[in-house]
Amino acid sequence: MAGAWEGLDPAIADAMIENVVGIFALPNGVAVNLLLNGQDRLVPMVVEEPSVVAAVSNMARLTRAAGGVVGECDASVMIGQVQVSAPAPGAADRLRSAIPSLSALAAGVHPQLVAFGGGLRGMEVRELRYDEPGEDPEDILVLHFFLDCADAMGANMVNTVAERLMPEVVAITGGRSGLRILSNLADRRLVRASVRIPVGLLDEPAVPGRDAADGLDVAKGIAAAWRFAWADPYRAATHNKGIMNGVDAVALATGNDWRAIEAGAHAFAARSGQYRPLSTWKVRDGALLGQLEMPMQVGTVGGPIKVHPTVQQNHAIAGIHGARDLAVMHAAVGLVQNLGALRALAREGIQQGHMRMHARTVALEAGASGLEISQVVEALCRTGEFTVQAARSILGR
Ligand code: MEV
Repeated sequence: MAGAWEGLDPAIADAMIENVVGIFALPNGVAVNLLLNGQDRLVPMVVEEPSVVAAVSNMARLTRAAGGVVGECDASVMIGQVQVSAPAPGAADRLRSAIPSLSALAAGVHPQLVAFGGGLRGMEVRELRYDEPGEDPEDILVLHFFLDCADAMGANMVNTVAERLMPEVVAITGGRSGLRILSNLADRRLVRASVRIPVGLLDEPAVPGRDAADGLDVAKGIAAAWRFAWADPYRAATHNKGIMNGVDAVALATGNDWRAIEAGAHAFAARSGQYRPLSTWKVRDGALLGQLEMPMQVGTVGGPIKVHPTVQQNHAIAGIHGARDLAVMHAAVGLVQNLGALRALAREGIQQGHMRMHARTVALEAGASGLEISQVVEALCRTGEFTVQAARSILGR
């Protein structure tokens, strides 16, 4: 257990980024109860927000009674972009004709990838036009290439290929060299998770401070909350934030680039022209059906994964079998996290549960320790006054 608390060696931290002045710690929890594709899984999560790990564990327990979460994902195909501006006439056609030779060039950059099940998966030419009103228009030509990065997130691999292709692309198109970089809209690397929960499992008995609820009503409330998000980007942003609470926490715990995942998720959510929820929730044939589909650019090799001891430990806890398995776990957690938020919102609201968790921080701030913490939490919840002052007076300080 010592390693789990110690975290990162300062020497490693110093080698990871620049101007290091310290190590920033966050809580590393483990969500339990997840049955994913018929297997029990523990989910390491790194997050500062109370209720996130508890919500995943609670909703995972609920969904396991319904057979658990089912998930699957595409191959680890990332998109690379090679951009030229002001291309000469006929450049797009010439570039299309050159795809076989460009593909051979690209495939030669990482020949070892094939042995790991990856490799080049194609190319396409995209003709774009910058035509912002009031500005000079501009033609932009982009070569997209698709690289299956196997168990890597793949940013470095894709960027190396993009840089290698650029001189050839400029020579073929007669344009000016532009950007050569991956796209974080990784829509060829989608992951899907789903649950089917018979409404009876959503029945809630009465407890102090909360009435009993019929499962069908709860399911309808969740579906109505989803329709609100579908119709309104203001709500969809918050809905998706709840999904990302789970996804990002797993990404952080497993050493993955959560900014890339975030960027891809939100661009994907806006693909229709309106920002929409990443999940869907509907009531069908006596069951609540939940589905999540989103890009998931995660890896099990590269980045900080092999050098960060806590990340390695989290990989071991999660029992991960490669990048696609890890991607599916992210999606499963995102979906159950979303279920937890919508269920609470459709019922008593999130504040009751949130404030109970928040009370722990208040108790700590007031100087509580050991057994005192839960005593102060209970007392704060009874009074409903979640201030440090109230906690201090409970402690008699
Ligand atoms: C809070 O971190 C996340 C929620 O706001 C998500 C939601 O509203 O669906 C509870």
